Amino acid sequence: MKLKLNAISKSFGPVKANSNINLTVDNGEILGLLGENGAGKTTLMNILTGLYKPDSGTILIDNQLKEFQNPREANKSGVGMVHQHFMLVPVFSVTENIILGTEPTTRFNKIDLKTATDKVVKISSEYKLDVDPNALIEKLPVGIQQRVEIIKILLRNAEILIFDEPTAVLTPQEVTEFFEIIKSLKKTGKAIIFITHKLHEVLEICDRINVLRRGKIVGEAFPTKTNNKKLAELMVGRTVKLRTSRRKMEKGKELLKVNNLSILSDKKEPILTNIDLVLHQNEILGIAGVQGNGQTEFIEALTGLRKASTGKIVYFGKECINITPRKIHALGIRHIPEDRQKQGLIGDFSLIENIILNTYYEKDFSNNLKLNWLNAKKEARRIINQYDVRTNSEDISANKLSGGNQQKLLIGREMSRSINLLIASQPTRGVDVGSIEYIHSQIIKARNKGIGVILNSTELEEIIALSDRIIVFYEGKIIAEFPSNSDPKIIGLAMAGVK
Ligand SMILES: Nc1ncnc2c1ncn2[C@@H]1O[C@H](COP(=O)(O)OP(=O)(O)OP(=O)(O)O)[C@@H](O)[C@H]1O
Ligand SMILES: [Mg+2]
Repeated sequence: MKLKLNAISKSFGPVKANSNINLTVDNGEILGLLGENGAGKTTLMNILTGLYKPDSGTILIDNQLKEFQNPREANKSGVGMVHQHFMLVPVFSVTENIILGTEPTTRFNKIDLKTATDKVVKISSEYKLDVDPNALIEKLPVGIQQRVEIIKILLRNAEILIFDEPTAVLTPQEVTEFFEIIKSLKKTGKAIIFITHKLHEVLEICDRINVLRRGKIVGEAFPTKTNNKKLAELMVGRTVKLRTSRRKMEKGKELLKVNNLSILSDKKEPILTNIDLVLHQNEILGIAGVQGNGQTEFIEALTGLRKASTGKIVYFGKECINITPRKIHALGIRHIPEDRQKQGLIGDFSLIENIILNTYYEKDFSNNLKLNWLNAKKEARRIINQYDVRTNSEDISANKLSGGNQQKLLIGREMSRSINLLIASQPTRGVDVGSIEYIHSQIIKARNKGIGVILNSTELEEIIALSDRIIVFYEGKIIAEFPSNSDPKIIGLAMAGVK
């Protein structure tokens, strides 16, 4: 199927999210859609899938005018989307999730799970997706959950497929597999729109690239005729430093010492075994590793979100194992969690409320009787300006911000006020190249001022660019340690378990 968007415009109050956008995708074509955080990518795709109605403009599919009242109608016309934030029910099985809303029933009006399962198996093998139809969603790694979303739209006969930042949550291995999947979808003649902030990805996989800035298409490019630097400039409208500069520093006093730390799962299986590490002032310690090797649980133990079974965690010389997140926060330890929507922000709360979420009881914001909203508002404004959170009001709810702007708000909150130690997990997930530059420079500035940083990231490039020392997690253990500027290939081998 062939898609044509004609002069699409959409405003949210005073915010012009899309302004006169023209865009086409052919069958068998992969179109890359790039743009800064808040440029209007997700909004445009939500219009295409019938979630929003455009203020003006038209959608043509195979030259036929379409006016979608809801996503179901868009589905019927062959449009399917894998969303930036997944929409699966964690306690349901793969098949249950896939058929949600379109449950096939037997003659007696019972849900026909057998027929549904067969269909899932068929599509899964047709596109080599390798998904177990009976697995529970919450037990599956993110990469497989994403494939469930893909099966879901294929089962509804989607011919125009939209992927909104699908690679943001994937490991490099999963990205490779995902690219194979979209290549095979392309071969069967699907029209594909692929949104990402990773420039090398559009260069690798797309046939054509459109760039959005502040709601408008500002350029078209072809992978063979452009490069990272040109694309970055087109996106942001200025030169972007794609590499962070960092001077060497002597490490300071010891901030954190972890001794013989082990964590068991609910089923008493080991998740982490005998972890030992030390972090100093003026030091960025990078944790590299393929996701699922215990890093997440390690960070949860450090931040009071998970109980450790044995071992010691010592902050500033004082034993702090298994204390509450609030007590840890009071020590000046800040946490940027890996999942901004589950652990970082409350979507229905305003930006102001989110800014004081973990400090509302401090004397700047409270006198124990009443909250000081004026100060809270000031603090929110300051963070919004400093971290370039694109919004026209601090009173809107956080879920109205674009994905990357939610991330910037969260980082701004955690990196403000008195801070001694920063524990950052996937800090730049979903953030555009211009803002990555700023966030990286802020992390380095913090380290130069004496703050210690633990940086957990699946982006090896990010780990290497920022870290003074790098450790590698593998199967719940630290299996290697490297100095700064080590060869990514050698670190990569350690990540695969090769010592
Ligand atoms: N439901 C909504 N209500 C109010 N404003 C909204 C709503 N949805 C989006 N916006 C605003 O529209 C603009 C475009 O947002 P959009 O989510 O389309 O950006 P994006 O290009 O997908 O960014 P990102 O890369 O961060 O995901 C932003 O300013 C955002 O705050
Ligand atoms: Mg988006």
